Amino acid sequence: MTHVAIIMDGNGRWATARGRPREYGHRRGAESVRHVVEAAPDLGIDTLTLYAFSSDNWKRPTTEVSVLMKLFSRYLRSETPKLLNNGVRLQVVGRRDRLAPNLVRQIEASEDATRSQTRLLLRLAVDYSSRDLLLKAVRAAVAASDLERQDMSTLLGEAMHGDGSAPDVDLLIRTGGERRLSDFLLWECAYAELLFTPVMWPDYDGAHLAEALADFRSRERRFGEVAAAS
Ligand code: IPE
Ligand code: IPE
Ligand code: MG
Repeated sequence: MTHVAIIMDGNGRWATARGRPREYGHRRGAESVRHVVEAAPDLGIDTLTLYAFSSDNWKRPTTEVSVLMKLFSRYLRSETPKLLNNGVRLQVVGRRDRLAPNLVRQIEASEDATRSQTRLLLRLAVDYSSRDLLLKAVRAAVAASDLERQDMSTLLGEAMHGDGSAPDVDLLIRTGGERRLSDFLLWECAYAELLFTPVMWPDYDGAHLAEALADFRSRERRFGEVAAAS
């Protein structure tokens, strides 16, 4: 049971460095998504959460936002049959009320089509803000004020995970050289191993993911306890 989450960063800089518009980087970034989704199950990953669009990304120029939404729609159209063939269940996490109705319908169709797949749970975070989810969860918890601590924790966990029950993150990878979380999975990453790589997302592939997993498996996770005797 390994949950890997990836902040897929660096598309724009990758394209700019090549004298191309940022959108070109996003298109190439979609290829990297295909590569890592294909590679993940054989690396022992059973849940993969990919940060595709943050709630703060709405602040970008409308042309860039609309390219990203089109790419997302195109990904769903072209990849859903492949996901189904490869045993991948798709779940989209984040707000849906600000997405175009057509896109929401496509998301629901892809989720429905792949619902019974169990080889890999692929969670795409779109219009995602961990803080927003946390605030909503707290509001719900306050409304049910007689909750025991354990129930509160369960309620928070469920609210943070969107509609599913994804486990805590084991390994969080951020490409593109920055070392920050940018409002991603704040609750689920409590004990995540962190890996920051300078590789820009359009250059990231299955081999990079394999390297990341090897690094992760060499680490000792203690969860607050003392080191295991060797
Ligand atoms: C990640 O790449 C994709 C999204 C945030 C949607 P960026 O677009 O952030 O690329 P950089 O960080 O500007 O290079
Ligand atoms: C985080 O990347 C969001 C995604 C990768 C989808 P950003 O590029 O938006 O994050 P900041 O602005 O550098 O923190
Ligand atoms: Mg970025």
